Amino acid sequence: MFYSEELVEEVRSRNDIVDVISSYVNLKRKGSRYFGLCPFHNEKSASFSVSPDKQLYNCFGCGAGGNVYTFIMEYENYTFQEAIKMLAERGGVELPKEEEQSLEARRAADFNALLLEINKEAAKYFYYQLRCESGAQGYEYLNKKRGLSEDTIKKFGLGYSNKTSNDLYQYLKAKGYKDEVLKDSGLVTISEKGNYDKFWNRVMFPIMDVHNKVIGFGGRVMGEGEPKYLNSPETKVFDKSRNLYGMNIARTSKRPNIIVCEGYLDVIALHQAGFSNAVASLGTAFTSQHALLIKRYTKEVLLTYDSDNAGTKAALRAIPILKDAGLTAKIINMKPYKDPDEFIKNLGAEEFQKRIDEATNSFFFEIEVLQRDYDMSDPEQKTKFHNELARKLLTFSEPIERQNYIEAVAKRYDISVNNLTALVNSYGYRQVATEGQAYNRTENKDRKKEKDSTIKYSQRLMLTWLVEEPELFDTLKGIIGPKEFTEEFYGKVANLLYEQYELKKAVNPAQIINSFTTEEEHRQAALLFSTSLREELSGMEKEHAINETVKKLKLNWCEVAGGRATDFNELMEISKVKQSLQNLHISINKG
Ligand code: UTP
Ligand code: MN
Repeated sequence: MFYSEELVEEVRSRNDIVDVISSYVNLKRKGSRYFGLCPFHNEKSASFSVSPDKQLYNCFGCGAGGNVYTFIMEYENYTFQEAIKMLAERGGVELPKEEEQSLEARRAADFNALLLEINKEAAKYFYYQLRCESGAQGYEYLNKKRGLSEDTIKKFGLGYSNKTSNDLYQYLKAKGYKDEVLKDSGLVTISEKGNYDKFWNRVMFPIMDVHNKVIGFGGRVMGEGEPKYLNSPETKVFDKSRNLYGMNIARTSKRPNIIVCEGYLDVIALHQAGFSNAVASLGTAFTSQHALLIKRYTKEVLLTYDSDNAGTKAALRAIPILKDAGLTAKIINMKPYKDPDEFIKNLGAEEFQKRIDEATNSFFFEIEVLQRDYDMSDPEQKTKFHNELARKLLTFSEPIERQNYIEAVAKRYDISVNNLTALVNSYGYRQVATEGQAYNRTENKDRKKEKDSTIKYSQRLMLTWLVEEPELFDTLKGIIGPKEFTEEFYGKVANLLYEQYELKKAVNPAQIINSFTTEEEHRQAALLFSTSLREELSGMEKEHAINETVKKLKLNWCEVAGGRATDFNELMEISKVKQSLQNLHISINKG
């Protein structure tokens, strides 16, 4: 079903965000906003705020945010379609009947929704096959060989793709889906030589996003065979670096953390044993987007990667990613077993809980692994190891934290605290010295990164200002327009804001969010619009800040445009703009 922009906005404006959220969360007014405990993560002090002016919510603790649609979709686990139905009813807006739209119009309107529909149909088909006579082998494998109960099989919607080479294709065709769409679903191969199913004779694991939408599949051979697991390719709706298997269930778990493991069956075995907080990455490395996804629900991650070399390496790679996202990580030791599935089969849930309680803090895990490379009975090797320890201890930038770790490490490895502190300090001085040298060498990678983030920040700041004080649109007329926002996302937002201001001499941030489709964009936009700078700057300070920001934006534009320019005249224009910046001064005469 496709709804017009006007209708989407009409429904939104008939549902005051404070009223809607108040029916879920206890809100208290403080200044121009309402505060409460965030419903999307565990917290004791209120970092969740709702702005009646902007009609947006935002959580500084977990980063959740958006407009009233985002809230209902996240809280109720609804699709957009479901959310608009509910809000339309609540706000007394009549939605057009579904039959009024042709199948074609519907398809054109939302290709992604169609892919999700196809995946759902396929999941139902596989689920049904598992219970047919031809799927008995699959059921037997899951139930007998892998020890999964009927309840577990149901809960994860497991299925079977049978031996016929194109039955799923036929089934989907009969449901009315065209080849052009099917070829992008990742479920079938469409070619001149014929159209075939991708999955044959495998037990099937539907992969769901946090809203319980099937976005792809993993299929395992029963017994031996290559490849052991076959996964759906990435599609418009299946982004492996942003989704975690089992997250749809784990997000509602009452357990205080998230367990990250390697395989589908590890997740399922853990859930069956009561660890409803287990997830796995989808046959790919752990990414920073995975970490951010987890961070919406918890602050602590337990890693249970395979206890072989590859698993250890994967854990060592995941640790800094988790840390960068602000999560703490602990590592569960599963020896003598390979993975959580085998561990639980052999030792049971209670023993696994013990291993959770004894999990190693990620720093100690890293140095334990490091120690394996050194022969501690050789004084020279031992000294090298101590030096490595000192170097690693330097990575704690907080003095107190560093000192606590120095003490703990000294105790563990039987070194005197004073000696270890001295060693760490001497590394510290050396590092400062070499960093200075590196900084003097021009344009190293870090400086480029730093510059990029300054530009990003300036663009973001400017957008926030424009929303806070729309008069700036007039003040900056002819100086800053949408083209100066060279970051893709900020550019989209800027275009929409300028359009709104032009039409209505006012901005409506909550409406802008309607036009973004991904949750990530909702969150980013909400974050952008909820930063309040009004209290932070005033008078001269503000004038100076605006001038500086305008110059940064324009200089950056000159650079970007200069890089793209194809003729001399263009370059001349750009160089004029650059020169004009020297005399540019914008005065803001406001109290
Ligand atoms: P493992 O081989 O460790 O899987 O791969 P597992 O879960 O222990 O498998 P079982 O217990 O033998 O059934 C871990 C994960 O790596 C991906 C899958 O996501 C799997 O769950 N993988 C593995 C692939 O994508 N392809 C493969 O061929 C193998
Ligand atoms: Mn396994």
